[in-house]
Amino acid sequence: MKTSSILNTIGNTPLVALKNSSTGNANLFAKLEMFNPTYSIKDRIVSYLIDEAEKQGLLIPGMTLIEATSGNTGAALAMIGAQKKYPVILTTPAKTSPEKIILMKAYGADVRISPASTTKNDSNHYVTAAKTLHQSLPHSFLLDQYNNPANIAAHYRFTGPEIWEQMHGKIDYLIACGSSGGTITGVGRFLKERNPHIKIIMPDPIGSVYYDYFKTGKIHDNHIKPYKLEGAGKDSICQCMDFSIIDDIIQITDENAYHAMTQLVTQEGIFAGGSSGAAFYAACTLANILKKPANIVIIFPDSGLKYLSSLKQ
Ligand SMILES: Cc1ncc(COP(=O)(O)O)c(C=O)c1O
Repeated sequence: MKTSSILNTIGNTPLVALKNSSTGNANLFAKLEMFNPTYSIKDRIVSYLIDEAEKQGLLIPGMTLIEATSGNTGAALAMIGAQKKYPVILTTPAKTSPEKIILMKAYGADVRISPASTTKNDSNHYVTAAKTLHQSLPHSFLLDQYNNPANIAAHYRFTGPEIWEQMHGKIDYLIACGSSGGTITGVGRFLKERNPHIKIIMPDPIGSVYYDYFKTGKIHDNHIKPYKLEGAGKDSICQCMDFSIIDDIIQITDENAYHAMTQLVTQEGIFAGGSSGAAFYAACTLANILKKPANIVIIFPDSGLKYLSSLKQ
């Protein structure tokens, strides 16, 4: 591929058969989003959100881009913002890996880290901090990935159709983690419109709000707890998460995710991040209980290189 800009290399990521992990009835396939230029799925949404905001005249030259991020959207925004000459300010929780923080800064962003003790109702929670910053900076634009419908649209228009074509429509299950919900809602909606029999499964870390809400329709504040896994789950419900698309949510622990992440390296030669490990763990759990042959597509949102310092040597 020869192209005039790094931005043209976003999307069209490979889908790889996980030959050594496909057992019995289950054929596993992984969509490798680490092949995007900032090594995660978030390049897709940031590129789309900025293009749409520019087209609608909401984003104009000279504005500062602001966003709350667990690190991947931040890296994408820092890179794309720099290419398009917008200054970028990012807020992120304390648990964000050093690698992701270094990457956001390397692309030129101003990164503000919320204290570790912050909970969802505090004014310095990273999501609230981004909103406050946006309100105080008149010439700024907040992407608002957690509630912006363009996040879902990016996956509905691009990620979903790519998967459908790469699998020639032969898909029985889609497994993806959810934070903003953009990926699972956009891809899931597209696939279900093509074939309503496709089941959409979301792994959710213990401590996240989504499992309880999906199962009971209620938020149990006493179940919301810190966990280490980055980019999966949330401490409040995001508007981009459409639960009507989801068929089941499987709870996972940090250990499940990190163990599966290292298993992927040795078994399949794929060094993906912790949320990919969580999704792979959920796929293996499903594979063990399948009664008939099925194709399971798993989304691997980012690269394991973003979490090197948290891995045991
Ligand atoms: C590593 C990782 N995995 C999964 C997700 C979930 O994607 P979404 O926000 O589309 O639900 C994110 C989002 O930040 C992420 O950074």
